[in-house]
Amino acid sequence: MIDNGKIENSHPEDLLQRAYDVKSPEDAIDLYRDWAGSYDQHLEGGLRYVAPTVIAQMLSSAEPDHTVRVLDVGCGTGLVGVCLSKLGFSHLDGLDFSFEMLEEARRKDVYRELIQADLNESLDLIQSTYGAAISCGTFTHGHVDASVLGRIALLLEPGAIFACTIHQAVWDEAGFSRTLECLSPENLLEIQEIHERPYFDGSGPDGRFCILRRR
Ligand SMILES: C[S@@+](CC[C@H](N)C(=O)[O-])C[C@H]1O[C@@H](n2cnc3c(N)ncnc32)[C@H](O)[C@@H]1O
Repeated sequence: MIDNGKIENSHPEDLLQRAYDVKSPEDAIDLYRDWAGSYDQHLEGGLRYVAPTVIAQMLSSAEPDHTVRVLDVGCGTGLVGVCLSKLGFSHLDGLDFSFEMLEEARRKDVYRELIQADLNESLDLIQSTYGAAISCGTFTHGHVDASVLGRIALLLEPGAIFACTIHQAVWDEAGFSRTLECLSPENLLEIQEIHERPYFDGSGPDGRFCILRRR
């Protein structure tokens, strides 16, 4: 555990590099435990993180009914929930495996339920519960692989939108391209739109911002 003062005074770029160096779920748990208290300050102030706004707007355009129940997958401190709430979405639940990140999300007061669960394991939630889902920044280095898509799809009602960002570095490497482009009947998600866009204001297009639809 690194002391909070040290983390707060770290360069945001160094913490982002630590996130990109994550090799295992254990690394991720340690990183977000240490980072939770200063994550928003580093991401929004230091790195000018625009991905939550962009993906929330994409969901808003693809799903005009803002009363649907939405699951924020890997909600972290709740930056996406805040954007969705401003856009008028009224029923948001958040899921993350980091207790400390969930505590920060709770303070935002935009989620009805906050669920502590590991996306790498089967999710003990009722199937076809959600009218939409969103995920920002979680499909990245060492966090989850593409098998997560099947677990999330099962939680969605048929026809529901799943708006997500997938880092370019894991698009092929963690199997996302293969899984999403597979046309077999077991693939429950079909691609509606994919755009290459930056996560950070002024950075290169390091993410694929996707609108998927549950078959
Ligand atoms: C880069 S943060 C993104 C948080 C938020 N969506 C945002 O855009 O600010 C990634 C989040 O994914 C969570 N995460 C990583 N691996 C996970 C897993 N296997 N199960 C659940 N949550 C996970 C982390 O705890 C962290 O909160």
